[in-house]
Amino acid sequence: MSTCLPSSDPSIRKGQIICPTSALQHGGKAFRFFVLCEEIVAFPGMNADPDDELPAFLIQFEDQYFAYLNRCAHVSMELDWNPGEVFDEEQQYLVCATHYAVYEPKTGRCIQGPCPDGAKLRALPITIRNDLIYFGDL
Ligand code: FES
Repeated sequence: MSTCLPSSDPSIRKGQIICPTSALQHGGKAFRFFVLCEEIVAFPGMNADPDDELPAFLIQFEDQYFAYLNRCAHVSMELDWNPGEVFDEEQQYLVCATHYAVYEPKTGRCIQGPCPDGAKLRALPITIRNDLIYFGDL
């Protein structure tokens, strides 16, 4: 079952560059991309074939970078208000546009909204080298 939507967001494989650090700003627009299901840790309710792709996003918060599957912990919806817009107005939290679940940018932990207790966004591994952000632990 394919779960991805038609998009111009790039498909990134492990070891490939997602984007340069200069493409992101603290609390700014997220960089959207797709990952192959077979390259991420399976999770309950993933409901996808290994060769399906899932949407993901990369953000900068303070001076750090974080990547998550673009999949709310409440219902499997993308978070964005508009493509890449996942932060609240104060640029302090990630917010899902559907029912307003609020997440900590550094941990992905849901701190407010309709998510089950202890719910988190699914973090993806990234590596930064020479101002480039790669998907995976290199
Ligand atoms: S789908 Fe995100 S809060 Fe409901």
